[in-house]
Amino acid sequence: MSQAAAARSVWSLLDEARRRLAEAGVETPGLDAQLLLAEAMGCSRAALFARSGDSVVPAVEEVFRCFLERRAAREPVARILGRKEFYGLCFAVTPDVLVPRPETELLVSLGFERLRAMKGPVRALDVGSGSGCVSVSLARLALDHGLDLSVTAVDSSAGALNVTRRNAEAHGMAPYTRCELADALDPGWSPREAPFHLLVSNPPYVASGEIDRLQPEVSRWDPREALDGGVDGLDFIRGLLRRIPGLVAGGGVVLLEVGAGQAATVEKMATAAGLQFLTTHPDLAGIPRVVELCRP
Ligand SMILES: C[S@@+](CC[C@H](N)C(=O)[O-])C[C@H]1O[C@@H](n2cnc3c(N)ncnc32)[C@H](O)[C@@H]1O
Repeated sequence: MSQAAAARSVWSLLDEARRRLAEAGVETPGLDAQLLLAEAMGCSRAALFARSGDSVVPAVEEVFRCFLERRAAREPVARILGRKEFYGLCFAVTPDVLVPRPETELLVSLGFERLRAMKGPVRALDVGSGSGCVSVSLARLALDHGLDLSVTAVDSSAGALNVTRRNAEAHGMAPYTRCELADALDPGWSPREAPFHLLVSNPPYVASGEIDRLQPEVSRWDPREALDGGVDGLDFIRGLLRRIPGLVAGGGVVLLEVGAGQAATVEKMATAAGLQFLTTHPDLAGIPRVVELCRP
């Protein structure tokens, strides 16, 4: 076959890919096809439109088809690209970490507002740091706004903590981010910088029996330890609430991301654990997403 006969245009490849991904049940087939072709071609998504009539060289088409098959198997785009944008920063993503979610940006905005209202040097703890998206974004915001903040990022997965470290370094935040490999629920764990003025956490909060019913992008690809919150999804939060008196300073703030329908139960659990419930914050979809507490 001649090279001319084999070469396909950007437009026709995108059209075919969109149909292939739609058949595979992908929610955003057009967008995902564009992101993957842009990656294969080494250009931006915007540049694709300007080049829609261009021919794609066979070697690039082969790379694209490989991406496409992975996506059709419901591997998330972020895992294929190995990165995900979060709070305006680009985070490396590996199989060891949860892909950062847009709703988690709320933890960062709220955490930063609370820290900004505090006086003097402040210390924050990010429990279950994963990619480091929360710790690193907080550290970046603090630095950009002249706040004296040090963040301790803890994760029980060595692989995940390496990614936290890598992302902290990539964004120049390593000097402000202490990474600790520990089980945050272990009563024997006492981080050097405790007590903290702020504790933020996007914990594992999916009920074990629900995981296999989630979208394949989540159930097949996110690490189980990043999702599994036990029988009712609240095991981790229950354990963490017990640990708060040993981790957070009096008057310190706790921001916990929770799953849909969990906020009222977490409020009750927190009150029973002797913490003061402040409020619940909805995400952009209107789902109560972050529970805010105070350590009396
Ligand atoms: C839902 S992920 C959140 C990751 C990241 N903070 C984010 O928002 O994308 C939860 C993280 O908690 C970690 N984790 C699970 N159990 C833990 C424990 N007992 N102690 C510390 N970290 C834990 C997991 O390894 C995972 O990285």
